[in-house]
Amino acid sequence: MIKLLIISGSPVKDSSTDILLKEIENGFSGKVGSREEIQSSFYKLNELNYIACQACGKAPTPAYCFFDDDLIRVYADLAACDCLVVGSPIYFDTVSGQLKSFMDRCNCFRPADFNNTDPDHDFLKLIPRKRPGAMVLVGGERGYFEGARRTIAGFFKWIEVTNQGMVIHMSDDFHRKGAVRDDITALTQARELGAKLAVQVLAR
Ligand SMILES: Cc1cc2nc3c(=O)[nH]c(=O)nc-3n(C[C@H](O)[C@H](O)[C@H](O)COP(=O)(O)O)c2cc1C
Repeated sequence: MIKLLIISGSPVKDSSTDILLKEIENGFSGKVGSREEIQSSFYKLNELNYIACQACGKAPTPAYCFFDDDLIRVYADLAACDCLVVGSPIYFDTVSGQLKSFMDRCNCFRPADFNNTDPDHDFLKLIPRKRPGAMVLVGGERGYFEGARRTIAGFFKWIEVTNQGMVIHMSDDFHRKGAVRDDITALTQARELGAKLAVQVLAR
């Protein structure tokens, strides 16, 4: 069983971000075909109830967080997934607040090493294996994507995900939701990236 986890930081229904994420999912399942069963989970963060990180300053181990809200089920999928795809619209040159709050709440996937168990690191690693991942970013024509790319790259490193690619859509009319439907290049890139991720997962 292959576990694919997809997380969208876009609050907009049928958004370009979601369309590209679903295209990656299509490319992924097309490549896996009948070789293995896929369990795919798609979370639209805006539909979940969760609070922002409170910087508790203590390790919640063995749990991933002290707070018992809707993120509990996402944590379980994040820990178990074989592949992670994260998407976000560009808001003020970075990811959406929904995605940023989610990533902050994943801080305790590497709790502080208060007992100095590992002399090489100040943080403990709770996920022992690396998984492939990818990102989707959607912004305006003159959008600055590097802030969001860096933020998600840092998050991937924290949770043992190796980035395998990124699909960007620059919308010339951000009032038109789902405008990426006309961006054949981005849709093709998304499907190909999904297939690439599948090949890596199948080789695991
Ligand atoms: C609060 C907010 C901030 C935004 N900031 C930026 C920005 O800094 N740069 C940019 O290119 N677009 C910005 N936009 C436009 C969105 O990135 C654009 O609408 C995008 O298409 C949304 O993607 P989605 O429809 O997939 O959610 C902003 C939109 C909102 C609502």
